[in-house]
Amino acid sequence: MTDPTTRDALIAAARDAASRAYAPYSGFHVGAALLLKNGDVVTGANVENASYGLTLCAETAAVAKIANEGWIGELTAVAIIGGRPDGDALVGSDPVHPCGRCRQILNEAAERSRTDILVHCASGDGRAVKSYRLSELLPASFGPRDLGLI
Ligand code: THU
Repeated sequence: MTDPTTRDALIAAARDAASRAYAPYSGFHVGAALLLKNGDVVTGANVENASYGLTLCAETAAVAKIANEGWIGELTAVAIIGGRPDGDALVGSDPVHPCGRCRQILNEAAERSRTDILVHCASGDGRAVKSYRLSELLPASFGPRDLGLI
């Protein structure tokens, strides 16, 4: 999943998901697209709450979807995009990286998938993309392996 065509398709799916964010408090729309081993893409967007701390991030929403479908062990890559909406566009020139909690949430699926997943972080305007392995973003992680589950 290193080829730019696949990466860009995943970012496009994340951008589409961001258009369905529920973010009336921050005004910051985030989309996440998870690529499964069979090529399927599952997306999520952030869901905010009047009790701000209860907000669900886009990555967490997307991982919940694959877990609920029984696909938590099928993850191979994720794309994340975020910015402020301006019509159909997202404004923002810096790549959006997953927050600490989302790195841990992604790690659960990554370990279950036995894959050091690719994490593509895109800016709202789409001009800046940084790609990582999850182990770079969450080194020395704690996960299901530590509890003897895999
Ligand atoms: N957000 C995400 O959806 N994912 C992240 O990894 C970082 C932050 C959302 C949460 C909140 O709705 C908005 O971005 C501003 O923090």
